[in-house]
This record gives sequence, C-alpha cells and structure tokens, in this order.
Amino acid sequence: MVVGSIPTAAIFWFDYEIMKQVISINLKVSKYDIIVSQSENDFFASLKKTIITNTFFVITDENIERLHLEYFTNLLKQKSYNVRVSTIPAGEIGKSIKSLSILYTKALEVGIDRKSCVIALGGGVVGDVAGFFAATYMRGINYVQVPTTLLAMTDSSVGGKTAINTRDGKNIAGVFYQPNFVWINSSFLNTLPKRHIKNGLAEVIKYALVFDKKFYDYLSNTINNELISSKDFNYIIYKSCSYKAKVVEKDEKETTGLRAVLNFGHTFAHALETLTKYRKFLHGEAVAMGMLFAAELSLVSKTCRLETYKEIESLLKKADFILNLKINEQRLLTLMKKDKKSIDKNIKFVLIRNIGKTVNAHVKDNLVLYALKKFLR
Ligand SMILES: NC(=O)c1ccc[n+]([C@@H]2O[C@H](COP(=O)([O-])OP(=O)(O)OC[C@H]3O[C@@H](n4cnc5c(N)ncnc54)[C@H](O)[C@@H]3O)[C@@H](O)[C@H]2O)c1
Repeated sequence: MVVGSIPTAAIFWFDYEIMKQVISINLKVSKYDIIVSQSENDFFASLKKTIITNTFFVITDENIERLHLEYFTNLLKQKSYNVRVSTIPAGEIGKSIKSLSILYTKALEVGIDRKSCVIALGGGVVGDVAGFFAATYMRGINYVQVPTTLLAMTDSSVGGKTAINTRDGKNIAGVFYQPNFVWINSSFLNTLPKRHIKNGLAEVIKYALVFDKKFYDYLSNTINNELISSKDFNYIIYKSCSYKAKVVEKDEKETTGLRAVLNFGHTFAHALETLTKYRKFLHGEAVAMGMLFAAELSLVSKTCRLETYKEIESLLKKADFILNLKINEQRLLTLMKKDKKSIDKNIKFVLIRNIGKTVNAHVKDNLVLYALKKFLR
C-alpha cells in the first residue's frame, strides 16, 4: 500500500496490486467512502460496514436495465439479499416528479421500509432522482451510489446534491443528502457510448485546469483519438473524486463560495445550453466550449498569457471537442447576465491564471462582449 500526499482534507490510499482506491469524505454530519474498485468484494465489504438491512431497492434507468441490471441484482441475490427494482425512463426526462411519484408507490407496494436501502445504479439522472427519493421516502432512508457514466463517476455521485426537474426548469426541487458510500466500478464504462465518455471527460479536464498542472500533463499525454484507455480510467476517476471531495468538504452546501471554482466554464455553458434548449449539446460539450471561452476572457482580462490559452485549447482539441460555434454573441451575453452570479453591469467569472490556478473576477459587459466576438469569430 502506498500512502498518497494529496489532497489535504480528504484521506485516501492507493493500492496498486488490487487497483483499489478509497477516498474518505468528511462532512459535518456524515463521513463516507468513495471506493474506486472493480472488485465486487470491495462493494460488499462497504455494504456490510455501513448498512444493516437485507432489503435493497435498486433504482435504475431503461438502458442500464438492459445492459447491467441482471448482473447487479444477481450479485445481491447470491448473498441472499432481498432485491426490489424500479426503472425510470432514460435521459433527462426521467428526472421528473412523475418518476418520483411512481417510485414512492412502487416502494410501498414491494415493502420498502425505513430500514431498507436504496441503490442508485446509473448515471447522473438516476443518481439525482434516487438520492432525492432516498432523502424523502419515510423522511429519509439509506442509499448507495453505484455510478455508471463517467460524469456520474467523476462528479455527480459525490457531494450529496440530489434533484428533480419541474416544468419550469432543471434541478428546481432538490436537497443535499449524502450517500452511505459510493462504489465506482469503471467496468460499467465498457458499454457507455463515446459521446458520453467525452461528456464526463470535460469535467475531468476542468479539475486539471483549475487544480493541477501535473494532472493536466497526465491527461495531455493520455488522451488521444480513442479518448482514453480503460486502464487510465481508474486513475482519472480517483483524481477527479479527490478534488470534488476536497471542495465539498470545504463548502458542503455551497454557502462559502469555495465550490465556485467548479463553475469554471459554466457561465458560458449554461447560457449556451439555454439558448439551444438543452437539445444540441450535452452538458460536457457546452462546458468544453465554456472553458475555452473562459480562457479567452482570461486572456483579454490579462489574467493569463497566450501560452496558457494555447495549453487549454490543445487539450480540448486532443479530446476532440467542438470548439467553434456560430451563435449570436449578444443573446449569449443576455443569458449570461441572467445567471445568478451577475451583479449590476459585471458578471462574476472564474478566470484562469496558469494551469492549476484560478481567480474569481467581476468582468465588465463590454469586455465580455469583446471576448465573445473574438471567441465566436
Ligand atoms: N448531483 C450533482 O452533483 C450533479 C452534478 C453534475 C450533473 N448532475 C446531473 O447529472 C445528469 C447528467 O448525468 P449523465 O451525464 O450521467 O446522464 P444520464 O444519467 O442521462 O446518462 C446518460 C445516458 O447514458 C446511459 N447510460 C448510463 N450508464 C451507461 C452505461 N454504463 N452504458 C451505456 N449507457 C449508459 C443512460 O441511460 C443515458 O441514456 C443531469 O441531470 C445533471 O443535472 C448532477
């Protein structure tokens, strides 16, 4: 076993022989482990350690049901656990009040009680809905995250944010509710389409850009047309979760502003997603463009040098993200200003200094517009 040296707050260890990595996340009200391991024994060890029940309510979506549900429920059944299942529609449409309502009814029907445990087997959509369900069913029952997309493995399964969408928008209803543990088995990625791998990779690149030049170098040497080989997944997941855990520990409920650094590229991305009605781009694709725009804005605001801009551009190009766009800059600006971070005539941005170092800044509209024109040229 080799004891690592980063990050500061989260404790972790790295076992090269069995490829198991554990990140412990310490919050005010709870403490839990994120286990990056392809071994089912590690999953059961954590289950035994943190959950006292024989009954599990596995929540998944239609695609995972087809691809992985049988394997997963068989694992539980082999250990003589009672397994109940409910499936929600795949994609953002599944993150609805209707899904939630069906889950409450089904759970009652199949005898899920306050001692039972929910398992969220799926991507960010399943994780958000199952987490919200677990937080509210009988005033809160235990739950475990078993993420199956790269985005869920590197971002959404960590930090306890749960939510559903309403007719009026994304993530309108939600609560912070932490899982008992997170088991990340990167083998699930074998079936994930390349576009969704890239979707998660955008957030991974973000962690490198805002926190860690060495991680940036690692990604630059690793990412190619085939994106990334499966042996590298465990490492990038472990690094990403370590950073996410560190930020969540410092700003559990997004009250201190420390989580803001994770919004690098997101002001642009949210405006672009709204303008294109969430249909044209996946979130990660919009974030990739948003990060290059943030680099452009950093350049015109003189917080970074051309060299840093080029470093960011080169990594995003290696990952094959679409980085040129024809869109009306004034409409983008208007939407960015609607963002809650806009104050008077300035919009708050996370800008870059060097790879691994950011600065928060309020940027004047005319400078944002200038950067947008350059970027969209
Ligand atoms: N809670 C948080 O902190 C947080 C953070 C970021 C994003 N999110 C939320 O996460 C959601 C996006 O998550 P996502 O990108 O994982 O999307 P997703 O859950 O919709 O999954 C993407 C697609 O991949 C399919 N899929 C999942 N795993 C698969 C696998 N192993 N093989 C084949 N197909 C698979 C799904 O069925 C779906 O069609 C959004 O709703 C977003 O708001 C939450």
